[in-house]
Amino acid sequence: MTQSGKLRMGMVGGGPGAFIGAVHRLCLAMDGDFDLVAGAFSSDPEKSRLAGEELGLDPARVYPSWQTMVEKESGLPEDQRIQAVSIVTPNHVHHGPTLAFLEHGFHVICDKPLTTSSKLAEAMADAVQNSGRIFALTHNYTGYPMIREARELVRSGQLGAIRKVYAEYLQGWLADKLEDSGQKQAEWRTDPERSGPGGSLGDIGTHAFNLLEHVTGATMDRVLATRTMFVPGRPVDDDAMALFEMSDGSNGSLICSQVCIGRENGLRLRVFGTEGGLEWDQEHPNDLRVHWKNRPTELRRTANPYLSAPALSLGRIPPGHPEGYLEAFANLYRAFARAIRNQEDLEDAFPTVIDGARGVRFIEAVIRSSDQGSWVEL
Ligand SMILES: NC(=O)c1ccc[n+]([C@@H]2O[C@H](COP(=O)([O-])OP(=O)(O)OC[C@H]3O[C@@H](n4cnc5c(N)ncnc54)[C@H](O)[C@@H]3O)[C@@H](O)[C@H]2O)c1
Repeated sequence: MTQSGKLRMGMVGGGPGAFIGAVHRLCLAMDGDFDLVAGAFSSDPEKSRLAGEELGLDPARVYPSWQTMVEKESGLPEDQRIQAVSIVTPNHVHHGPTLAFLEHGFHVICDKPLTTSSKLAEAMADAVQNSGRIFALTHNYTGYPMIREARELVRSGQLGAIRKVYAEYLQGWLADKLEDSGQKQAEWRTDPERSGPGGSLGDIGTHAFNLLEHVTGATMDRVLATRTMFVPGRPVDDDAMALFEMSDGSNGSLICSQVCIGRENGLRLRVFGTEGGLEWDQEHPNDLRVHWKNRPTELRRTANPYLSAPALSLGRIPPGHPEGYLEAFANLYRAFARAIRNQEDLEDAFPTVIDGARGVRFIEAVIRSSDQGSWVEL
């Protein structure tokens, strides 16, 4: 810990013009658990330097590459070097830094999808296990209070045996060939060398997949899927649909698409059991609709005292004050800090490397099924 009691954090990625790095910086600071003290913010050393300057960091702790950062930080006295690192680079730069930082004793929090192949995902899972360090994957939608409520409703058996699960994640921002305009986020997401084999599948399909496994507590066993490249010349999917069967006997569908004009961040989950059902929509994240066989539908809302204890623990402000993306993201950082400090039993508090590896298997299974035209196992 630093003198202020904060954990010293480094960042890989999140340079000038980047999207999610800035979100991570806001969220790691929200609860006062972390101090950002070092970084390799870009693959371009000058951009990394500029980012560090803008953030007011000690220039000696702003590095031209993540490789230099691992080496130099490891050489600092224990009470000065970073304790954890946040990896917010494109998908193909998750595996390398994760392995290196774990090997040198640092805790890691990394953005999704875990990596670009099952083989690399397994190597990451082994590295986490061998290191004894904490690894968290920011499938941030698990940090919403009403998702935790949904999970409690399913797992406590109140909805009965689960029969149907529908997950949908629709966006419209890649309906045209935005990557040709030089838009950075579109460029690497549509380049299989950097995004991995899944386009929309890796970018948003893995969030929907993770959410449905997180809420139901069941695992997806097999899929019958198809993927489409709607935009001509795009080498990765911008749309995919999967029928699936789950380990608890339920089945359902997952659709993800980035060509649905007008949809912004339309992540929706619906789960139906023998006694009731639930519906959640990320664009209205403080609402959870709960349906019952012989009672009227309930609208449960964030931070109300009638919620389950796990859901209440994720709310931050009184009911009626909207909470959203940043707070949910910060809930994962808070849990990550607690795990590092070994403060409490953190089962299911944040997605793990195993969850991430399942996400990569999901991408690969959808692609296999789509290519073969048949059901495939995950
Ligand atoms: N959890 C979420 O809701 C969410 C949302 C957006 C993105 N993401 C994930 O976050 C990651 C980054 O996405 P983004 O949209 O912020 O991308 P981005 O292109 O906006 O930013 C990526 C940053 O990484 C830097 N970078 C690239 N290679 C590097 C290297 N070798 N060393 C150091 N820095 C390097 C780039 O310079 C850039 O600053 C992706 O894995 C993406 O899937 C997650």
